[in-house]
Amino acid sequence: MKRTLIVGNWKMNLDTSQASLLVHRLEERIKIHQDIEVVLAPSLLTLQPLSLQIDRRKFRLAAQNAYLKDEGAFTGEVSFTMLRDLVHYVIVGHSERRLYFHEDLDMVRDKVAAAIRNEITPILCVGETQVERRAGETKQVLHDQIMSALSNLTDQEVSEVVIAYEPVWAISTFSGILAKPDEVKQALVFIRKQVEDLYGSRAAKKIRVLYGGSVDDQIVGGYLEIEGCDGVLVGGASLNYHKFSGIVEKAYAVKHAPEKESDGEDS
Ligand code: 13P
Repeated sequence: MKRTLIVGNWKMNLDTSQASLLVHRLEERIKIHQDIEVVLAPSLLTLQPLSLQIDRRKFRLAAQNAYLKDEGAFTGEVSFTMLRDLVHYVIVGHSERRLYFHEDLDMVRDKVAAAIRNEITPILCVGETQVERRAGETKQVLHDQIMSALSNLTDQEVSEVVIAYEPVWAISTFSGILAKPDEVKQALVFIRKQVEDLYGSRAAKKIRVLYGGSVDDQIVGGYLEIEGCDGVLVGGASLNYHKFSGIVEKAYAVKHAPEKESDGEDS
């Protein structure tokens, strides 16, 4: 059974006490669901106190970034090695890191490898910009980002990676245009096909592929109902406890909708 993955990326928002309050509010609302995995990605500074606060049956933690070397003279950085006891996941290659911090394909590849080396699951973000989409380059961009990011991994390691399709134009703080479920479906199918072509059908079946971009509690169902969509990566709406707990509830409802129960995926 694949668990639906709901990831809240808080980005550079919420100080330690605000983060603690949000977790408290979420804990009141979110129930334990065996088949839904809820992951919180707070700021680096907040990970340690939240790791002591969270109910681990309800939440797992993710870092939003880490450095590709395990230790050494890299002032200001935090390594995957330092995070390994604290988090299950690290977001790698988010478009904001690619655009604002100039993370290129090689850096993203090395970060994915560093995550795997340190037994942390990378959530690899891929997605085209508006300009690339208009130029008809979406598939090429996704192909290049996936090919290069996974290139140092074995088939087994690839199957453990999570890929999040986040078209830059759909992110709320960029243009926030809502991607149609049909457009998302095409991209998710393409991403899984890339994995299949490169690493075989076992890895393609096992790998989890998420969608991210202006997802909230009102529209999340349309994305989660897409066949092969294993969850969502949520930015803005994850800062609002009504919206984020609503997303988790909706994920549960979609998972347990009558027509889905017959596909044998649920326990
Ligand atoms: P929004 O949900 O605010 O569009 O952000 C998406 C995102 O970048 C999550 O990583």
